[in-house]
Amino acid sequence: MNDQFGRTVDYLRISVTDRCNERCLYCMPEGYKGWEAQRDHLSAEEILRVVRMATELGFRKFRLTGGEPLVRSDILEIARGIKNFPEVKCLLLSTNGIRLANLAQPLRETGIRAVNVSLDALDPKIYKQITGGDVNSVLRGIHAAIEAGFETVKLNCVLMRGINEQEIWPMVLFAAEHGLPLRFIELMPLTRTDVLTKKNFFPVGEAMQLLSQRDELIPVLEKKLGHGPAKYFQLKHTGATVGFIGAMTNLHFCETCNKMRLTADGKIRPCLGQHGEIDLREALRNNASDERLRELFLEALRQKPMEHQFRDNYQPSRPMTAIGG
Ligand code: 5AD
Ligand code: SF4
Repeated sequence: MNDQFGRTVDYLRISVTDRCNERCLYCMPEGYKGWEAQRDHLSAEEILRVVRMATELGFRKFRLTGGEPLVRSDILEIARGIKNFPEVKCLLLSTNGIRLANLAQPLRETGIRAVNVSLDALDPKIYKQITGGDVNSVLRGIHAAIEAGFETVKLNCVLMRGINEQEIWPMVLFAAEHGLPLRFIELMPLTRTDVLTKKNFFPVGEAMQLLSQRDELIPVLEKKLGHGPAKYFQLKHTGATVGFIGAMTNLHFCETCNKMRLTADGKIRPCLGQHGEIDLREALRNNASDERLRELFLEALRQKPMEHQFRDNYQPSRPMTAIGG
């Protein structure tokens, strides 16, 4: 499918739940109570119907997200179901890693190709301050994922000034030591406003400068590392592969966007940084025809905007945990 700006859209990120076993500052407002009722989440069967529609429309790449996708008890069933469609070229997973130590092996066996693990700090205190969780569980999860033989295990680190900037270099060394690509991500306005002050924002350009004082950054040109929004570099001496996701400062960020999102409550979200959503759940639960579902998908595609509104004093109406990472 091509959108009105000529971008090929063939990547669907599927949030399977808005629940999470962590409480990241950048994703969920403090004391968040906006949880959806379980019955409002799409069932495995409904998700698979949407995936089938999506494959018919040309979607080839799918990612399971949340909330935290691994808190959903039927996650393996969902993954297996998606992999069963022969059109699905690539199934991926984004997780906070907390449950990965136990689940890495069975997840790999479903055919999931690669996993992204959020890791915003290595220091246990800083990690806890950001996420409320235990970094050692995540590290065990990362090792289990490496053992399980995923094609890639990538690390995601959201940058926040005054919170985890001193973790940048230790994270790079960790990534190099384990041969894992590491991506630094700019904080996007998707949570409570006190976390999103200008004071907390840390541009990826500054992280690049910081790293170039310690090592030499050689641009990686090949597309091998995913068609995602990150710009990758190889660090000459440490050997680390580091990507930068300048969602806020890179003015060309959206030009290569190839994705849409499906929220846990069954809305198609054409863009993370614009409020618009199209409700599929109502149609799914009212015996809508395949034809009708395809129409709704195409409507979402028509509504896919040229770019996000994050730079225009964007106020999230739903936090990241409700939209899907
Ligand atoms: N800004 C930037 N990245 C975010 N993520 C979640 N919320 C935000 C935000 N407000 C990232 C997490 C996770 C990925 C799915 O999305 O780092 O790795
Ligand atoms: Fe795509 Fe919207 Fe994200 Fe830009 S902000 S990359 S258009 S989803």
